[in-house]
Order: sequence, then C-alpha cells, then structure tokens
Amino acid sequence: MVAHSGAMDLDPLHAQRLAAAARAVEVVRDGMVVGYGTGRAAMAVLDALAPRVKAGMRVLGIPTSLSTAAHAARLGLPLTDLDAHPTLDVTIDGADEVDPARNLIKGGGAALFREKVVAAASARLVIVIDATKRVPRLGTSWAIPVEVLPFATGACVRLIGEVGGAAARRLDAAGAPVVTDNGNHVLDVAFDAGRMVHPRALDEAMRAIPGVIVTGLFWSFDPTVVVGTDSGVEVLGPPL
Ligand code: 5RP
Repeated sequence: MVAHSGAMDLDPLHAQRLAAAARAVEVVRDGMVVGYGTGRAAMAVLDALAPRVKAGMRVLGIPTSLSTAAHAARLGLPLTDLDAHPTLDVTIDGADEVDPARNLIKGGGAALFREKVVAAASARLVIVIDATKRVPRLGTSWAIPVEVLPFATGACVRLIGEVGGAAARRLDAAGAPVVTDNGNHVLDVAFDAGRMVHPRALDEAMRAIPGVIVTGLFWSFDPTVVVGTDSGVEVLGPPL
C-alpha cells in the first residue's frame, strides 16, 4: 500500500480519489457496521469518515488489512470483527480496474482475501476510484492477483499455466515473496485478452486448483462505483 504524504495531495489522481471518497461516505449512516478497504482510495474514505465519527456518529469498522486497522486506530475509528458482526451494512473499498459491467480486479495491495470476505459479508459494496481505473476490459493494465498457500505456490504456477494463465510470483523490493496478512503468497496472473471478458469463468477455473485460496476477480458484487474525474464525481451502478 502507498502511504499518505503531503506530496500525494498535489497529485491530480489523489484529488480525484479524495472527491470520490467524500461522496462515497454519504452512504454511511449512524449505527452502521462498515467494511474498510485497503489502499489509497480506502484510506481517503477513512479520512473522510473520521470527522463525522468524531462529531458523534456511531460507526463500527471491520478492516481488511493490518495497515487499514493501523490507519483507523490513528484516526480514532472504532473497530469490530466478523464474529461480533457477521453482517455488514456496507463495504467501501478501492479497485485496480473496473470494466463497463463493473467487474473488478482487486488485490494490488495484496489484501484481496480479506477484501473479498468482507465484501461478501456486506449488504452492498461501494468502490472508490480515480478515472484511470476505468478500463474497456479487465487486464488492460493489471494482471489478476491470486492468493495461494505457500506450500502450493510452485504447483499453482504450473496448474494455472495449464488453464492458460501466465502466473508470476509477486516479490518485494528485496526479491522475497510478498507475504499477505494471512501468511500466504500472491501470484499475478495474465490471460489472453479474449478470456478476460469472462471473469467468472477465469475465477472458477483458478479456484478449482488446490492451493488457490482466492482470486482478485470480483464479478458477483454489483458494486456502486464512485469515480473521481477532472470534472467532478460520477456514480455508476446502484445509486448511493
Ligand atoms: C488492495 C486493493 C486496492 O483497493 C487496490 O489495489 C487499489 O488501491 P489504490 O486505491 O491505492 O489505487 O485491492 O488489495
């Protein structure tokens, strides 16, 4: 995840994220349980929510990563978990790509597993993006993140290859495998453009491989997508 910095505030794309986040938090009402995503847009959502909570609105959050939990703690946002609250009112998160049918690629920040768990437990999903995240088809600028059991990584690379995907192990700056908050590895998987228009089929094909835990293809959620643009905020899908 990219940390907040003063310099980022000068970035026009971050200005788009901030505007979209400010609009997205309008969905949050007193007494709600809210899923908190991971990444820059999701942090902008927490920043936009914090003053309302400080002013007395009661909101409980369920964070999708340790970094998000830390940011929520810094802002004084109270947290809960899925044992206490197995159903959430809404999750607000970011995305790496959004196609015209509002299918998503997520997992650029390696938090895809908890992000999918929390989204699936929520009554609705709201996605906050800058305008560059809208693509004509998934896979335009991102591969598909896939979380795998470390014991199975090598076999998953080979077996994903057998279903047509080119899987690269995600490495950190030191060349070591990225390890998720769940202790797993991440593969970034590319498929031919023609197959990327069938995210459900790709998701199911990869999930059928033992050792694959979850893919970053979010095709079943019908999210509301809040897009920051140079000329204002656009809302796609179910209204806020
Ligand atoms: C993390 C995610 C993020 O939502 C995604 O990578 C977008 O991040 P950002 O808002 O920083 O561009 O899926 O796993």
